[in-house]
Amino acid sequence: MNHIAVKDAALSVRPIGPTFGAEVSLMPINGDVSPELLTQFISLLHRYRVLVVPSVYADPADLVAFSARFGPLEIHSRFENTLPAHREVFCVGNVERDGMKASFSRGVEQWHADSSYRSVPSDASLFYGEIVPPEGGETMFADATAAYRSLDSVMKRQIEGLQAMHSLETLRLWGQRHNPERTGDIGSQAVEFPAVRQPLVRVHPATGAKSLYVCPAVISHIEGLDAAASSALIEALIAHIAQPRFVYSHRWHKGDLVMWDNRAVLHTASLFDHTRFQRLMYRTTVAGNAPALAA
Ligand code: OGA
Ligand code: MN
Repeated sequence: MNHIAVKDAALSVRPIGPTFGAEVSLMPINGDVSPELLTQFISLLHRYRVLVVPSVYADPADLVAFSARFGPLEIHSRFENTLPAHREVFCVGNVERDGMKASFSRGVEQWHADSSYRSVPSDASLFYGEIVPPEGGETMFADATAAYRSLDSVMKRQIEGLQAMHSLETLRLWGQRHNPERTGDIGSQAVEFPAVRQPLVRVHPATGAKSLYVCPAVISHIEGLDAAASSALIEALIAHIAQPRFVYSHRWHKGDLVMWDNRAVLHTASLFDHTRFQRLMYRTTVAGNAPALAA
């Protein structure tokens, strides 16, 4: 499409991942963003699924204002890990300061899309590197769209129409297994977010592309399958998705902003030496069914 080429030139786009992902320079984060530029950015998000905007050096207010251009923002269920002055900002890492305590989880690989335990899960997330470790702590992205496309037709038929139960309680138990020092102080969330069914294969509302929606730490089981068959299928799909040919690993530099489409990719944290290094990331989360992200 001709207008895409013009847009790419205007925003300086460089593909970075094997099948997805692009670095987009010159995207203004603070101050005014013209509707045209925003539309261009969104069409790039649909096309590349993960957009890296390097060196934006934004503060929390800028991040919230920029993120809110895409739609209403979620307030994270781990309220204690949000910024007191900007509750839309969820803090991830091992830093505690100014009345803020970041959410720290040992970086066991755990592929997921954000807030899949909500009945209307998030459309997109924005992640900003405030303090980044000199090594480790990469965020890995997997192209759940390309991974679906490359499944053989037998597997496609097998998973068509299957529904998975996503539950914050399952995630809480997973978190406790990997972080024994974290006790059950978040049990009330399970009441706020009863388990929900999500399709194993989802269809992107803007592109029509199908993708694999598999979050092993959040899914209690797949409807109609027993526990063993559920986990075997989830493991097989994750082994497929996590192949290097579908993965882009983002090495963080301070001031980077990465936006991803939760409806098209999965992501996971990775380990860093939290005894030697600090890491503080700010996440804003665009709530599901945002009109701007559906077109
Ligand atoms: C998140 C997340 C990954 C990371 O905050 O949603 O998955 O690299 N973070 O910390
Ligand atoms: Mn996440």
